[in-house]
Amino acid sequence: MSEGCPFRQPDHAANHATMTSPTGCPVSRDAAAFDPFGASYQLDPAEALRWSREQEPVFFSPKLGYWVVSRYEEVKTVFRDNLTFSPAIALEKLTPAPPEAAKILESYGFAMRRTMVNEDEPDHMERRRLLMDAFLPENLEKHEAWVRELVRSYMDHFIDKGRADLVEEMFREIPMTVALRFLGVPSEDAKELRKFSVAHTLNTWGRPSPEQQLKIAEDVGQFWKTAQAILDRMREEPTGEGWMYDSIRMHNQHPDVVPESYLRSMMMAILVAAHETTAFATSNAFRILLSNRASWNDICDNPTLIPSAIEECLRAAGSVVAWRRIATEDADVGGVTIPKGGKLLLVQASANRDPRHFENPDEFDIYRHNSAEHFTFGYGAHQCMGKNIARMEMRIILDEFVRRLPHIHLVENQAFEYLPNTSFRGPTSLWVEWDPEQNPERRNRGVLDNPTHFHIGAPIKEDIVRRVLVTEVEREAEDVIRIDLADPYGRELPDWSPGSHIELVSGEWRRYYSLCGKRNDRHRLSIAILREPEGRGGSLHFHDTVKPGDILHIAGPKNHFHLDETAERYTLIAGGIGITPILTMADQLKALGKPYTLHYCGAGRRTMAFLERAERDHSEALTVHASDEGCRLDISIALSNVAKGDQVYCCGPERMLEALELLAQNWPEGILHVEHFSARSNILDPEQEHAFEVVLTDSNVTLQVGNDQTLLEVLTAFGVDVPSDCCEGLCGTCEVAVVEGDIDHRDLVLSRAERAASDRMMACCSRAEGGRLVLAL
Ligand code: HEM
Ligand code: FES
Repeated sequence: MSEGCPFRQPDHAANHATMTSPTGCPVSRDAAAFDPFGASYQLDPAEALRWSREQEPVFFSPKLGYWVVSRYEEVKTVFRDNLTFSPAIALEKLTPAPPEAAKILESYGFAMRRTMVNEDEPDHMERRRLLMDAFLPENLEKHEAWVRELVRSYMDHFIDKGRADLVEEMFREIPMTVALRFLGVPSEDAKELRKFSVAHTLNTWGRPSPEQQLKIAEDVGQFWKTAQAILDRMREEPTGEGWMYDSIRMHNQHPDVVPESYLRSMMMAILVAAHETTAFATSNAFRILLSNRASWNDICDNPTLIPSAIEECLRAAGSVVAWRRIATEDADVGGVTIPKGGKLLLVQASANRDPRHFENPDEFDIYRHNSAEHFTFGYGAHQCMGKNIARMEMRIILDEFVRRLPHIHLVENQAFEYLPNTSFRGPTSLWVEWDPEQNPERRNRGVLDNPTHFHIGAPIKEDIVRRVLVTEVEREAEDVIRIDLADPYGRELPDWSPGSHIELVSGEWRRYYSLCGKRNDRHRLSIAILREPEGRGGSLHFHDTVKPGDILHIAGPKNHFHLDETAERYTLIAGGIGITPILTMADQLKALGKPYTLHYCGAGRRTMAFLERAERDHSEALTVHASDEGCRLDISIALSNVAKGDQVYCCGPERMLEALELLAQNWPEGILHVEHFSARSNILDPEQEHAFEVVLTDSNVTLQVGNDQTLLEVLTAFGVDVPSDCCEGLCGTCEVAVVEGDIDHRDLVLSRAERAASDRMMACCSRAEGGRLVLAL
C-alpha cells in the first residue's frame, strides 16, 4: 500500500469502518492490483474495470493514490456535484515536473491560471455564462461550410494514393485548424502557434521522462510567449470575429470576471481542450467503424445515420476515458466514504459500458437510442463546451469519407499504439488502404454534390432508424396481421427482452408495436398490427401497403415495459392486441420456471391473435375470456389473491388499464405494471398553458419555457442532451430529476406514488404547476 493510503491516515481513523469496500476489505486484491499504466487498462480501460463495475464500483487504488469510480450512476453523482467534488485537479500533472522544468517556464514568465475546466464556483459559472454564446448550436452553423472545405482539401492530398495514415495526414491537423479558426487567430499567427502545440496528454496524464518534461516546458514557454504577441495584435482589431475576440470584448466590459491574465491562459487551454480530444475521438471512431464493417456499410448507404454512429463511437471508444475531481469534504459515493481531500478518477469509459444504463453495452450498435448519454464529454456544470464543435467536425469528416472513399479498409495486422496515460485514448497511427481506381468520384463527380447537412447537437431520434426487409405478412386473427422483419443482408438483428417494442417507419408513418416473436431468433423480428379504422391511420397504412420484399425502417428495439424476473409469482393480463408483449413475458417466465397465470381477453376467439400459440405453449397457465362466449374477465376475482412479492403485468385497452389501476390503488408500490397503447392527450394548446422558469442546478443556468414550448424543446435547444422517444408521455425516456417545484404530471409512465414524490417528471409533456421548477440537470 502506498504512503498515501487513506485507510492509514490518523485523522480518518474514525471512518475506517465505513471506508471498506463491498468485499469487506479496505483495499481488495483487485483494487490493489489495479494499474492505470498497465497493459490491460491501456488496451481497453472499460474491460480492465469490468470486475469493478460488477463487484466494487468505488475503490481506492494504492498504485495511483486515487479513488476510482467505475459505474454510470456513481460517476454521474460525482460529476453533478462540483462543489463537493471540485474539478481543481483536472489538469494537475500526475507526474510532477523536475525543478529544471519549472525554471524554464519561469524564464518565459509562464503564469497559467485555472481556466474553466478546473475552476471552482462561483468564478467558473460566471465566466462560462459570459463566454458561452459562440458555442451555442445556433451560432455554430456558420462554421459548417468552411469545415467541409477544409476536410475536402486534406482528403485531396491523399485520395489518389491508395494508402494513408489518417492520424498523421488528417485527424491530428483538422481539429487544431478548426480550433484556431474558431478562436479567430489569423492564419499567419496560427502557423506560429502550431509549432508549439504541446504534447499535453503525456505531460499531464502520463509518465513523461525528465528529458521529455524539459522539452515540453520549452514548448509551453514558447507557446505562452507567442500567445501574448498574438493577443496584443488581436486587441487592435475591436470588431474581429472569433471566440478570442469575443473574450477580449468581454474582458473590456467585465474586467473583473474575465481579467487580462485570463485571456492568454484561455487561448492555451482551449487549444488543448479542442485538439487531442477530437483528433483521438476521430481516430477511434474510424477504427471501430472500419472494424465493424456492417456498421460502416450502413452509414455509407445512409449518411443520416452518421450522428448516431458518432455518438456510439464516443460511447464505446471515447477519447477521454477518465477525468478527475477532488473531494472538498467527506462524502459518500456509492456507499463508500471518500475523505476530504480524496482524489477521484472517474472512469467514463467504464461508465459508458455499464449494463445498468446501456443495454448490451459490449455490443457496438450505431442504432442505440441512448448512446448520447455517454460521459465522454463529462457531465453537469463543466460538461464540454465544445461538444457540438467536435460533433460537427467528426460528422463532416465521416460524411466526406463515406461519399469519397466508402471502399477504404484498415491495413491488416497493423499494431495500434497508445500513449501510456490515464485519460486520453487514441491510436498514434491509423493506416488505411483502398484501390484508387474504385474512387466513386473518378466515375461521377456528383458524389461531391449535396453533402449531408447535419443539425447541430445530439442526434435527432427520427434519424436513428435501421433498414429491414419484410419477409412475411400473415393473417393472425380477424383484422390482425403479423409482419416478420429481417436484416436485408441476412445479418443478426439486435437482442431484445420481453416487453420490448420497435417503432415501424414507412414514409411519414411511425408507429410503436411490441415484439411478439421468439426471443432467441436473432434473424427475425415479429410484430402484430390490429387494423383500427377509427385510429389515426397508421394501422390502415401498414395493413394495406406492406408486403413481403418491402424495405421498411425501424427504430429500437427498446423496452419501457420491463419484466422484473425476481418476483415470486406473476399474473399476466392481456386485452386484445395487448397479447403481444404479454406473450413474450409468458414465454420468458415459462423458461425461467416461475409460477404465472395468464388471462387473455377478447371480443371473440376469431379476433384473438396468437390464441393457438398461447394454448399450445401456456395451456396450464392460460384462461381465455372471450366476451361472445359470456366469460368476461372479472379483474377483482382474477387479482383477489395478489400478495406481496407478486407482480402483475397488463397490456390492453385504456378502460381495462383504468379499471386495474383503480383496483390496485391500495396495493404496495411496484406490484402493478401496465403498458398503454396511446397517450391521453399530447397536444400543446398555448391558450391553456402558462410559461414557467426552469433552473438547472447541475449546469447552473436558468431557462424560460414559453406557453407554446415543451420543457424538452427548451432543454434541447440549449444543448442539454435529454434523450426522448415517444414525446407523448408513454415511454419514460425523457425523465428528468426534479429538485424543487410543483409538477403538473401529464405522462402515463409514473405511478401515483412516484407522482406524489414530486422528484421526477417527463420533459416531453409534463409542466410546472406554478412558475418555477428546479431540475437536477
Ligand atoms: C471540457 C471532452 C472537444 C472545449 C471538457 C471535459 C471533457 C471534454 C471530458 C470536462 C468535462 C467535465 O468536467 O464535466 C471533450 C471531448 C472532445 C472535446 C471528448 C472531442 C471529442 C472540445 C472542443 C472544444 C472543447 C472541440 C472547443 C473548441 C471545452 C471546454 C471545456 C471542456 C471549454 C471546459 C468546460 C467547463 O469547464 O465549463 N471536454 N472535449 N472541447 N471542453 Fe471539451
Ligand atoms: Fe417518451 Fe417523454 S419521450 S415519455
